[in-house]
This record gives sequence, structure tokens and C-alpha cells, in this order.
Amino acid sequence: MVLKMQPKLIIHGGAGSSLQGKGGVAAVREALYTIIEEVYGLLANGSSAKDAVVRGCQLLEDNPRFNAGTGSVLQSDGQIRMSASLMDGATQSFSGVINISRIKNPIDLADFLQTSPDRVLSDYGAAELARELQVPSYNALTDLRLQEWIQERQDNFQRTMAGVIAEPEFAEASSARRGTIGVVALDTEGKIAVGTSTGGKGFERIGRVSDSAMPAGNYATQYAAVSCTGIGEDIIDECLAARVVVRVTDGMSLKDAMQRSFGEAKANKRDFGAIALDRDGTIAWGKTSQVLLAAYHNGEFMGDTLEWGEGELVGHC
Ligand code: GLY
Repeated sequence: MVLKMQPKLIIHGGAGSSLQGKGGVAAVREALYTIIEEVYGLLANGSSAKDAVVRGCQLLEDNPRFNAGTGSVLQSDGQIRMSASLMDGATQSFSGVINISRIKNPIDLADFLQTSPDRVLSDYGAAELARELQVPSYNALTDLRLQEWIQERQDNFQRTMAGVIAEPEFAEASSARRGTIGVVALDTEGKIAVGTSTGGKGFERIGRVSDSAMPAGNYATQYAAVSCTGIGEDIIDECLAARVVVRVTDGMSLKDAMQRSFGEAKANKRDFGAIALDRDGTIAWGKTSQVLLAAYHNGEFMGDTLEWGEGELVGHC
């Protein structure tokens, strides 16, 4: 008899400054747990880690609260440009799209590109692929994101980034917030996959490339996988996802790899968070930002990091 692994799942909806308003925290928790329940159910029924990750990313992209897909932030010119990537640890294959507009689920194109000879496409090429695949045109703009951009335009774009969460309760929170969504899954075959999707930082220069469609922000081998959220430039400078995964692949425990990598990031004054899994089923999370909006299912119960203490760099279960 083939022994099956206990599936594991962790997802995130961004990282940033302190969440203000318990109503907002409850709403985010409910949104994350609803997605966890559906995606963990798929894994428990034998879905592959890759397929579960794609479904989880679709659900997070479709929730207008999070900065990916519907509800993406606007760039400096008032346009939405989204980036997403997918990495299957079993095949160690990375695919993604950079700065694509007018589609509902960028992760679907990343999934299509998994088996393509050209696996990362940027703006014009990604749009051409969407046209070839007859992906319907879709407007990801929400009223809240438009109001946020109009306000910033009136203030002459003083803020460096848009809000991580499109919730009225969080509107007064500190301006330094960051959004992205991500999913990491371990399936019953012991295979790992990871996906990450974002609308970017918000208010950025046209052509700026996010970490979310780079191995710095989304990386997996057969040993471990990591999805990052936060300031893309900081994530790229630390090459965080690949750094943690390579450490685990070389024999370090996931807990130690996260602790060491986040210790280095803190010393370098970086601002981000990450979620991770290894092939033994360890779930881990880390942040140098004040909060990380992550939730997980460890096979026995669901938990989250929404009110996880400031000052703590890494947690695991
Ligand atoms: N981490 C998302 C971005 O900086 O684009």
C-alpha cells in the first residue's frame, strides 16, 4: 500500500502595517478561511498541489479585498497591470506573466505557460497570449481602488504604495502597506507547488516589474516552496523565496532557513513577509513588516497570523 501524505496548505493576502479595526480583521479572517476550506478540501480529495495552488490563487484574485486580480491597485498612470507566477516543485518549473491588463485571473496564464517553451511573458506578449487563448476581456477595477488613486492624485502621489487591503476599516491605517496574494500547498503524493499574484505596489512607474513573477518572490523545489509579499524591491534584493528554498534544498530545516533569512532581512531593514512549506509538512511564516495576512490548514485545524505579535520574525507548525 502506498502511504499518503497529510496535505498541508498556507495562503496569504498581503503584509503591512498594523490592521486597525477588529471588524476588518474578522472580515479578512473569514475571507481567508473560506478559501482555505475550499482548497484544503481539494487537496484532501487528491488534487495535485499545482491544481490546488491555481484554484487558491483564483479565489484570492477574485476577492476584491486583496491586491491581485479584481481589486488590484492602480499604477501612476491610473492603469491596472498585474503579475503572477506559478512554480511546481515536482518539475521545478517556473512560469509567469508580468504587467498584464484586462484579464480576470493572471494565474491562469501562468498555469498555461507551465508546459510552454517560453514560460515568462511580459505585457504585450502576455496580452497576445490572452487573445490567442480567447480569454475574455475583464475590468479588474473596483470603486475603492479608484477612490484611493484619485485621493493620491490630489495629494500628488505622496504615498509610496497603495493599501494592502481594500477595506474602509483600514483606510486610516499607516500609508506603508503592501499587497499580494500567495498559496503554497503540499499534496497527498508529497508534492509541493506555489503561486503568487499581485497588482503591484500601486502608484508605481509604468514598466516597473514586481517580484511576484520572479523566483525572488515565488520559488519551489521538491523540498520546499515560498511565496512572498511586501515591497518587491526589498524581496528582490534579498532574493527571499529562492534563498529560503535553496537553504532547505541544501539540508537546512525550514524553520532554520526562515529564521536565518528573516534575521538577515531585518538587519538589512527590509519590509516584507512570506509563507512556506517543506516536503515533511512543516508550515512556516515570517515577516519583517508589522503584520502578515496569512492563514493555514495543518490537517487538523485552521490557524492564522492576523494578530501575530509584532517583533516576532518567524513562526511554524
Ligand atoms: N510584492 C509586490 C510588489 O512589490 O509588486
